[in-house]
Amino acid sequence: MPNGTLQHRLARREDVPALTALMEAAIGELQKPFLDGGQIAASRTIMGLDTQLIDDKTYFVIEQAGALAGCGGWSRRATLYGGDRSPGRDAALLDPAKDAARVRAMYTHPAFVRRGVGRLILSLCEDAARAEGFTAVELVATMAGLPLYRACGYQALERFADDRGGTPVPLMRMRKAL
Ligand SMILES: CC(C)(COP(=O)(O)OP(=O)(O)OC[C@H]1O[C@@H](n2cnc3c(N)ncnc32)[C@H](O)[C@@H]1OP(=O)(O)O)[C@@H](O)C(=O)NCCC(=O)NCCS
Repeated sequence: MPNGTLQHRLARREDVPALTALMEAAIGELQKPFLDGGQIAASRTIMGLDTQLIDDKTYFVIEQAGALAGCGGWSRRATLYGGDRSPGRDAALLDPAKDAARVRAMYTHPAFVRRGVGRLILSLCEDAARAEGFTAVELVATMAGLPLYRACGYQALERFADDRGGTPVPLMRMRKAL
């Protein structure tokens, strides 16, 4: 099992191939206890890397002894979830005075689960959103993400299914006051 302190930095465009591989592994492996094969295949359409977050400097990479352990970020833009390949994205800027910031695209490498990577990314995101004046944050959780967000104080708002990948994938919209 990997050892050492978790380090964080902002993601860069050069990280994209490694981040894509990490996400593929996380979606394929870590959703198995929560979804069937058809739902996991459909998840690949509605999840994934949003390079806008890298360009916005709101996407974090977590490393341990030089190995990529996880990634995730936040956004001051309207899109609630999804990757570059997902339809219906909205890059409109949010208003911190009335809108909730978004938490987006959280993935932990299967070799690094339950070591606090997800919790660290959430606290980095919440601190950064708070520093820009946001007073709440919203996200759309997969069933695999739900236990993490519940443990970190997020409240469930609405359960729904996304069928854009062919098979309906259960999701939960959640919110936390900052
Ligand atoms: C969701 C995900 C990012 C969590 O990553 P993680 O780095 O393992 O989470 P952490 O170690 O920070 O977990 C913090 C707490 O969340 C809860 N938690 C996290 N994963 C859990 C699980 N599979 N089952 C139960 N509780 C869990 C626990 O309370 C945990 O604390 P503990 O380990 O001290 O008990 C990871 O499972 C993942 O990549 N899943 C697949 C991709 C995905 O669905 N991402 C979410 C998109 S919304």
